[in-house]
Amino acid sequence: MIKKCLFPVAGYGTRFLPATKAQPKEMLPILTKPLVQYGVEEASDAGLKEIAFVTGRNKRAIEDHFDITYELEDHLKGSSRENSLKSIRNLIDECSFSYTRQVQMKGLGDAILTGYAIIGNEPFGVILADDLCFGEEGIMSQMIKVYEKYKCSVVAVEEVAPEDVNKYGIISGQPLDERHTRVETMVEKPEPDQAPSNLAIIGRYILTADIFDILRTTALGRGGEIQITDALQTQARQGKVIAYRFKGQRFDCGSIDGFVNATNFFYQRMK
Ligand code: UTP
Repeated sequence: MIKKCLFPVAGYGTRFLPATKAQPKEMLPILTKPLVQYGVEEASDAGLKEIAFVTGRNKRAIEDHFDITYELEDHLKGSSRENSLKSIRNLIDECSFSYTRQVQMKGLGDAILTGYAIIGNEPFGVILADDLCFGEEGIMSQMIKVYEKYKCSVVAVEEVAPEDVNKYGIISGQPLDERHTRVETMVEKPEPDQAPSNLAIIGRYILTADIFDILRTTALGRGGEIQITDALQTQARQGKVIAYRFKGQRFDCGSIDGFVNATNFFYQRMK
């Protein structure tokens, strides 16, 4: 059974400067909840109650968010706002939270390898909180079912416009049915004329523990960073990666357009 979920949150969030100068981009709110809380709720709903963060400098607000504030709770007691901390308090009661630091921003692959100190030798989920996902059933819950069937790494994918393939890891392989593909090829941010398909990996993964050994020997890839896509390609060559077209919607909240779209979407749902 998978119990742990890794949140790499060490990135600088430069697209949101100056808002992210002194606070993590994962703490930017969609309505009243920070992005990272949506991600942790999705993990917890999927039964992943051991939450592991790979942090960096300027990320203390995340630790404070997942901790109890007795004074504030006391202050709100009996008032009309008493319930406004309920969602976060529930998570704090249900989950455990651990933190480790990525020393240099050497890419998502390096951030995930840093998480080994907390994850150890077991399969685990990965959520990039800036990809905000919404589905009637949570995306991570859907992926856990895929893992239980295939017992190998799982990446969530969606179709993107051909001109956008150079922003994502792109997969191709053997379709098993409408939603599942056994991955054969993965390329990080290909130019549109070199992309093997338009199926893009989004910020949800289930990884088997052998990924750590692979990451330890993965050379620097695109952008001089250690790319998780390159490590996954090694597993894919052994037929051990399933791409899953999830049911639901994703908002790229690492970009301004995606962030505004997510805000509008959740605002409409709230009304
Ligand atoms: P991004 O490249 O989208 O995030 O990384 P960023 O670097 O924070 O944002 P911009 O491009 O400067 O605006 C995807 C995810 O991987 C994490 C980021 O925190 C983000 O959640 N990441 C990336 C790390 O934890 N460490 C890294 O070295 C790189």
